Amino acid sequence: MPAILDYTKNVMFLENLEIAEVSAGGVKIINHKGKKISRKVSCVKWDKSQAEKGGFDHFMLKEIYEQPKIISGILDTRTKRSKVYFEELKISKKTLKRIDKIAIVACGTAYHAGLSGKYMIEWLAHIPTLVDTSSEFRYRNPIVDKNTLVIVVSQSGETADTLAALRESKKKGAKVLGIVNVLGSSIAREADGVIYTHAGPEIAVASTKAYTAQLTILYLFSLYLALLRGRRTPQKIRAYLNELRKVPHLTRRILKRYGTESSDMKLKAKEFNQEYHKRLKLYCQEDREEKRRAPNCCFLFLGRNVNYPSALEGALKLKEISYISAEGYPAGEMKHGPIALIDENPWTICIAPESKLHEKMISNIRQIRARKGIVVAIATEGDEEIKNVEAQYIIEIPHIEQTLTPFLVAIPLQLWAYFVAREFGEEIDQPRNLAKSVTVE
Ligand code: M6R
Repeated sequence: MPAILDYTKNVMFLENLEIAEVSAGGVKIINHKGKKISRKVSCVKWDKSQAEKGGFDHFMLKEIYEQPKIISGILDTRTKRSKVYFEELKISKKTLKRIDKIAIVACGTAYHAGLSGKYMIEWLAHIPTLVDTSSEFRYRNPIVDKNTLVIVVSQSGETADTLAALRESKKKGAKVLGIVNVLGSSIAREADGVIYTHAGPEIAVASTKAYTAQLTILYLFSLYLALLRGRRTPQKIRAYLNELRKVPHLTRRILKRYGTESSDMKLKAKEFNQEYHKRLKLYCQEDREEKRRAPNCCFLFLGRNVNYPSALEGALKLKEISYISAEGYPAGEMKHGPIALIDENPWTICIAPESKLHEKMISNIRQIRARKGIVVAIATEGDEEIKNVEAQYIIEIPHIEQTLTPFLVAIPLQLWAYFVAREFGEEIDQPRNLAKSVTVE
């Protein structure tokens, strides 16, 4: 609920001209006529320490580190053997069996989580799924009806465009499921059903833990639908859940290797910073007549299949906090435009873990290297082939079932954005021009 807090009077001004008076004895809500109003009490299990940095330099880093615990918390509370539980989901099994289409609608990072959700829902549950940004969806007269499940994904639960998309979908008769982090937020209240991500308060503007929590819920929901609609046997679901349960431990390993002050990733970020300034300086010294444009010190993020959304998210993270131009692309699109950018200046982050499309990524990397491009590859430990393509830096992630790699890939991408922004001396938790919750268009 959007509210304005007046600390001097212990008063909160709420929606609809209501006022909440906060005292040691409790909270009293009165309307504009001074009449007391009673409201249902919901308990938020967040504690004070979650709103403190806990020894980390920035909330963003703290939140990156919280991810293994949050993912294992979700798995512990929502799964048992081959079963997935969504107790608060008020949409009936009958409805979920009936729907013939899913639309996932969200903004920013939540949109990227939604894109991953599409891969999983279509693969596991075989339900045609479209994904749209809320600002496009709400104005394009989307084709949704009573047989469509609209899933709105939002950390804050207050994003104006996503809320409008939810209302538009309900008006058209669709059932709306909210995947939301903030308890009792507008989206949680207005959706027909809600699944909370329980990631705790996310303070840094750049979303990290909310993203992997959204991914976890979307993966579990895909499994839930797959079982419900008879697309996967309980044995298959169980085997997949067992793989998913490896994620917290493996993300912890990645954090240990790359997230510390002594990590080589931090050194690489420093190298990028130095290189960037060297090129800029050279450019400034040179005769401008000879050099027609500034060096193209941007970042390209390439991924395929389930890691195409990872590429988009990696680019968004970096640009939000470092202000360096970064673009995410499906690697197969490289030849259709982005390859024109490649020379010795841009750095290309190639997400190339073990997968059925690994060979294709290797070939993308070769094409970049042939044009003197700088490559940072994210690859699976023990990948010998990647060593032969002469990437400038290889970030290794542990082996996991290929559709689960987005969880592991997310961690180095977040750390990379964090270290680069820190090298550039940027204000990490509160980047310029951005708000944590976008409640206006
Ligand atoms: O609260 P929401 O998840 O609805 O917010 C959506 C976007 O505004 C948000 O993800 C934004 O892109 C973040 N700053 C990304 O780090």
